[in-house]
Amino acid sequence: MTPSLLALSDLHVTFSTRRGLVEAVRGVTLSLGEGEMLGLVGESGSGKSVTGFAITRLLDTAGRITAGDIRFRGQDITRISGSDFRHLHGAAMAMIFQNPRAALNPIRAVGDQIADAITAHKRMPRDQARAQALELLRAVQIRDPEKRMAAYPHELSGGMCQRVMIAMAI
Ligand SMILES: Nc1ncnc2c1ncn2[C@@H]1O[C@H](COP(=O)(O)OP(=O)(O)O)[C@@H](O)[C@H]1O
Ligand SMILES: [Mg+2]
Repeated sequence: MTPSLLALSDLHVTFSTRRGLVEAVRGVTLSLGEGEMLGLVGESGSGKSVTGFAITRLLDTAGRITAGDIRFRGQDITRISGSDFRHLHGAAMAMIFQNPRAALNPIRAVGDQIADAITAHKRMPRDQARAQALELLRAVQIRDPEKRMAAYPHELSGGMCQRVMIAMAI
């Protein structure tokens, strides 16, 4: 059997707070295959975001994975080094944040931010990265992509910023 793309097994995440330990995620098990989509549904505070942050190593410093594992293409990514993880993150997995405007750099044009995401993982000339950024803006169906390349996040709607984040994730 081929391993799933992503598999969480009995994942536990605990935060240490002034009021003691908060078990935010208690035993999440799920698996996701290549090309599949999976939605996590639950009330506010039930641990959806913390689960995502645990997968992408973006947990707050007070948070720790206390049990379970997270396998990406069969490899337990809770045990790989920071530098190995950075090769994976952004290239093979990415996070699209809930508040895209806060996640984007307010003083850099969105086209440049997408090009930066590309060159963080692949060496290429700047023009080529910008050409790919333009293609990505087209792929996420932003109207007038040539013009939007030069736009700053505050010049775009929230939905458009979300598309820019999706372009960066792709
Ligand atoms: N940095 C933190 N310190 C302490 N508790 C936290 C922290 N981040 C999240 N939590 C707690 O973890 C639980 C799950 O939160 P979260 O994953 O954000 O919920 P959801 O995304 O499902 O709304 C909540 O009880 C929340 O208060
Ligand atoms: Mg959330």
